[in-house]
Amino acid sequence: MEKKAAENRMKSLREAIEKYRYAYHVLDESLISDAALDSLKKELFDLETLYPELITPDSPTQRVGGTPLPEFKKARHEAPMLSLNDVFNEADLDAWFTRAKNYLKRDLPEAVYLELKIDGLAIEIVYENDFLVEASTRGDGVIGENVTENIKTIDAIPLRLLPDPRRPKRVIIRGEVFLEKKELIRINKELQKTGKAPYANPRNLAAGSLRQLDPKITASRRLDSFAYDIISDTAELERLYGVRTHEDKHSLLKKWGLKTNPHNKSVPSKVEIEKEKAHWEHHRTDLPYEIDGLVLIINSNKLYEELGVIGKAPRGACAYKFFPEEATTILEEIELSLGRRGTITPVARLTPVSLQGITISHATLHNFDEIDRLDARVGDTVVISRAGDVIPKISKVIPELRPKNAKKFSRPTTCPEDGSPLIQDGVILRCSNPSCAGVKREKIAHFIGSHGLEVDGLGPKLIDKFIDLDLITDPADLFFLKPGDIDSLEGLGEKSASNIITALAARKCIPVSRFLMALGIPHVGEETALVIAASLPSSIKNPENLADFFAKKSPDDLLALEDIGPIIAVAISNWFHDKKHQELLHKFATAGLTFEVGQEKSAGPFSGQTFVITGTLESMSRDDAKEKIRSLGGKIVESVSKNTSYVVVGADPGSKYDKAKSLGVKTLAEENFLALLSSF
Ligand code: IVH
Repeated sequence: MEKKAAENRMKSLREAIEKYRYAYHVLDESLISDAALDSLKKELFDLETLYPELITPDSPTQRVGGTPLPEFKKARHEAPMLSLNDVFNEADLDAWFTRAKNYLKRDLPEAVYLELKIDGLAIEIVYENDFLVEASTRGDGVIGENVTENIKTIDAIPLRLLPDPRRPKRVIIRGEVFLEKKELIRINKELQKTGKAPYANPRNLAAGSLRQLDPKITASRRLDSFAYDIISDTAELERLYGVRTHEDKHSLLKKWGLKTNPHNKSVPSKVEIEKEKAHWEHHRTDLPYEIDGLVLIINSNKLYEELGVIGKAPRGACAYKFFPEEATTILEEIELSLGRRGTITPVARLTPVSLQGITISHATLHNFDEIDRLDARVGDTVVISRAGDVIPKISKVIPELRPKNAKKFSRPTTCPEDGSPLIQDGVILRCSNPSCAGVKREKIAHFIGSHGLEVDGLGPKLIDKFIDLDLITDPADLFFLKPGDIDSLEGLGEKSASNIITALAARKCIPVSRFLMALGIPHVGEETALVIAASLPSSIKNPENLADFFAKKSPDDLLALEDIGPIIAVAISNWFHDKKHQELLHKFATAGLTFEVGQEKSAGPFSGQTFVITGTLESMSRDDAKEKIRSLGGKIVESVSKNTSYVVVGADPGSKYDKAKSLGVKTLAEENFLALLSSF
């Protein structure tokens, strides 16, 4: 191509590529496929190879820098790059406002600009006459490292600002460079393949990627960036643009073509700040990048400036940090816990530590292979994590902090309760004694526990005592107890003895679904128990009738029930065909246990309809909502499918809400759900 024509073509290519880049990063609109864009870049690159004198500094080809640098040059920041003081709770937040008010000696509006605090690293970029001329890391706040070539590889950062005749010749932008979580995983996998150490978190990875002497390595890391500040004279910004607030600064950044975080917003009061904090604490995992809190900045630029700096942090801003998702503590002991099916599971006893506001002193270790996998030893410093509201677990051991005398754990060979040998069943160890006293206690405790009959005042210690004294050997025996049997036991006065007997007597007439759950039949939880209960004939009035009914049923008969699959059908059938269990059921009947009538009928206006509940309901607990739905004949399921009738959506709903929307399942906001309930 002739030079003049090439020049024109190159200009058009640059403009088109820039337009697509801007649309993608700043406007969040994808106007072209990656492949087509690459093809345009290739054409531009070829023309530039032909006419190197026509390369411009804002050409997209300049993003992948040429030769590696021998070292980073230093860059001095015109204004210091500060850090933020942290606040962790409402009291800290109040104190931050109060300190600011006291400093100003007058009242301060609570209006702040709220930003997501991205777990990356801070950068400064200098633009002169629209062009990116220098970029640097924070360093010690005064002098950082010049990382211009590396910053230029980041597609989210414009090499040239959008034209604006009013803009000062030189502007300084601050922002955050970060990597998406999936990039962390991708890069760590690649590093591990070549035997290199993985990065611990997105922040280290972003810093490590930016501080590469070879910009090609930086380019391969797919860094991203959000801009969050313009370092400029407050009065000048107001004079030129009418910019008065931090929010206005963000609008201006966006107008200049910089990528800002769409979730940032101004918030009028502390109450709203707390709401946002709760929202993001819950939804941070939905974001493609890590955030570790919120940044709060007094929205008025004038007030912010007047508040000044204390130490290395501005008085007018703070970081509202989330509770960390992980904490470290000491593994004090590996305890053995016996389950009601005789399985022995290792449980970690920890030096108590606070995690997300809850004191944790135990963590699950799942099974004995897990201990080997973690190489966890008593005395080790361990990392514990709690995802959502699940039980805490040990995610990692820190071998560098292992004391010399840390003992390797040896697997038990005998039952911690009765000393019987253990049987290995895959990764599971089980007590070989079918009448192990510990197993008996666990079965009884389950029967009267929160997933069973819910009898108050009877804990494992008392049950153990009753078993030791031969007062009981199974849960049915409990109902034969008389006050005189137990009121002379140590630690149990007449009053509490009679309370226990009364509590047990009050549970002699129970819904059959509760009873089915309490029996501890494998795979039979709340929902399955309700399904079975709903299909039972009304002639079943007590445990004996139940035993007789199931004695005649094969797994195939049970498969005919809605929602009962083959595994559950076999488990139920096996349980009821076991002679020991049949005897137990007869014993319950002899003790006088009966089933409440009319409880389990599923007929009603909601019959045949399935409901999923997500988020927090304000007017009632989740259990109450479930109860209401069931009482009208509806069914509760855990996951959303296209067959779900309704998804009831409370505050801060989870992914089930998104799924419902994507499948076109009807959703009910709380007020609509209440209206529906009250219409029957
Ligand atoms: S504003 C005075 N906004 O948090 C500093 N910082 O300790 C004002 N950060 O080093 C910073 N996301 O790297 C601001 N949306 C955001 C941020 C953010 C992350 C980092 C920043 C700074 C650190 C403050």
